[in-house]
Parts: sequence; structure tokens; C-alpha cells
Amino acid sequence: MTSPGEIKTIGIVGLGLMGQGMACCFIRYGFDVIANSNDVAEEQETINHISDSLEKLVEKKIIDKSEIEGWQERFKYVRSIEQMQDCQFVIETVGESLDLKKNIYKAVESTVEKDVVIATNTSGFSISLLQKNFMHKERFIGMHWGEPAEITKYMEISRAEDTADFAVEIGRSIGERCGKHPTVLNYDIAGLISNRLMYAMMREAMYLVESGVADIETVDRSFRQDMGWWATICGPFRWMDLTGLPIYAEVMEGLFPKLHKSDKVPDLIKEKAETNTKFYDYSKDSEEEWDKVWKDFTYDIRKIVDKYEKRVKL
Ligand SMILES: NC(=O)c1ccc[n+]([C@@H]2O[C@H](COP(=O)([O-])OP(=O)(O)OC[C@H]3O[C@@H](n4cnc5c(N)ncnc54)[C@H](O)[C@@H]3O)[C@@H](O)[C@H]2O)c1
Repeated sequence: MTSPGEIKTIGIVGLGLMGQGMACCFIRYGFDVIANSNDVAEEQETINHISDSLEKLVEKKIIDKSEIEGWQERFKYVRSIEQMQDCQFVIETVGESLDLKKNIYKAVESTVEKDVVIATNTSGFSISLLQKNFMHKERFIGMHWGEPAEITKYMEISRAEDTADFAVEIGRSIGERCGKHPTVLNYDIAGLISNRLMYAMMREAMYLVESGVADIETVDRSFRQDMGWWATICGPFRWMDLTGLPIYAEVMEGLFPKLHKSDKVPDLIKEKAETNTKFYDYSKDSEEEWDKVWKDFTYDIRKIVDKYEKRVKL
């Protein structure tokens, strides 16, 4: 069996938003990537994405140009999963369809060696449910990435009932080699940690708008200026420590019963999803500008986190 540190060739199935970011991350940290998708146009899109993002990392002085010279030789696009036989680790990052994922696992398992760890980036499915579709169940893990995948430190690794320790260790080691601070969950839970926290917040945000307390822009502003201010350096528990813990217990007593608890998808987002519209209006230029600003901002955050991590343990 290949030891975690010896893994060099990573397979990615799915080259959408997340797959392209992962490809960039693996390339940046010296891995070879063999990638597959069902849309051949994504080969060029991914190459462009890697190229632009690496350029940005150099421009922001996060990496040196010499570190990524000749990276093109380390990226290979293949039209079928059967051509991924050299992969020493495979991550699936296609859309949330159970049938689609099942077919992909079958194809990957019949292609790679039986001890190659296979991971999913799913945000929605339980890892235990997906694991049922495996011949070699022990090799399967959840490996959840954050966006932009090439720059965040976020990674959550989850194991299911039949996952073996070696699979978790390989996932953790690859995460660390990709500049992440992987978190391993004690057991598989829908939504993992980050999505459970984020969706609880989103449900409340939608309730505040739907019940007329404030408009979308105002709710966004409050979020950015309060939680957004501290959330990169403090989690909720650190924040309570820093700002007077007993008060939180008192507030919880009065406020928890008043928070929104519906399990229905709010009309506010249902309607937007059905009509394929967004919460704000964008011109082509403003959409592009938001995309650029968001990317620049995340690179800057990374630098700030690197700086403060030297002063305190985050
Ligand atoms: N978008 C996020 O911020 C985010 C964050 C964490 C996890 N995730 C999870 O990552 C996964 C992918 O999300 P995304 O946002 O990149 O989706 P996406 O819609 O951008 O990309 C999906 C990709 O799946 C691929 N695909 C579809 N059918 C295929 C097939 N038969 N064979 C090979 N490839 C196929 C295509 O390359 C397509 O681009 C989902 O499971 C999602 O829940 C998304």
C-alpha cells in the first residue's frame, strides 16, 4: 500500500466550480492531476482557471514563479474514467445526483487499485449512504472543500461506518500537503460542521427578510459588519470567550425560543431558484467585478490569517 506521503497522482472526477479549484490547488502543491468530466469544454476552462489562479498567487507574492514552472505537464484531462488507472487518490466532485455518483464510484472502483482512497466532496449526501455503493467500503471518505479551493484553509474529512483508519489518514495527509488545516469529524453527520452552521444562519436571514424586519441589503450589511468582522479569526466559542461568556447564556434563554425553526425551503429562495434569478441585480461588468473582488479579497484574507497565526493558535 502507498504511504500517505508517497501519493503523487490525484484523480478528479467533475470539473465544475469546485473541481477546477481543486485541480489548481493540487497543481500548486506539486501533485500530478488526472481529471475527467462529462463536458470536454471543461478541459480548456480548467487549464485557464489554473493558469489565472497561479498567476494571481504569484502576483500576490504568495508563491514564487519558480514553484510552478512547467505545471502544464502535471495536468492531464481524460475523456473516460477508465483512463484514470494511475491515480493514487481520487476525489469525486460532480453535482448532487445519487445515480450519477453511484455510476462514477462503480467506474472508479473498477479502474484504480483496490487500496486507492476515494473521496467525495458532497455537501448534501450522508457519507454512509454513499458508502453503500462501494465494493471496497473501507477506502471511502468525505472530503469537503471550501471555495475558492486553491486558497482557503478549510477542509472537513468525514468517515462513515465502514471507513478504515488508513483512508482517513490519507485524506488528512493530502489536505495538509495542500495547505489546509483538515478537521476530522468524529462521525458522519448531514451537512458536516460548516454547512450546518451556515444553513442555520441562512434560514434566519431569509426569515428576517420574509417577515419584513429588513430588506436583503440590510440583512447582508449586518452580517458582514458583525459576524463577518470576527469570523475569520474566531469561531463562535472563541468569540463568546472574548466577549463575556455568561451574557450569551442569558441571551440564549430569551432568544432561542424566538429563532426561526421551519424545515421548509423559504419562498424567497425557491422563487429565485425557479426563475434562475439572483438576490441583487448585476450587469455583465458588475458581475465580473464582483468575481474579481471576491477572489482578490480571499487572497488577502489568506495573508492576514497567515500573519495572525504566528501570534495565536487558531
Ligand atoms: N459550490 C460550492 O461552493 C461547493 C462547496 C463544497 C462542496 N460542493 C459540492 O461539490 C460538488 C460539485 O459542486 P460544484 O459547485 O463544483 O458543481 P458544478 O455544477 O459547478 O459542477 C459539476 C460538474 O460535474 C461534472 N459532471 C457531471 N456529470 C458528470 C459525469 N457523468 N462524469 C464526470 N463528470 C460529470 C461536470 O464536470 C460538472 O461541471 C457537489 O457535490 C457539491 O455539493 C460544492
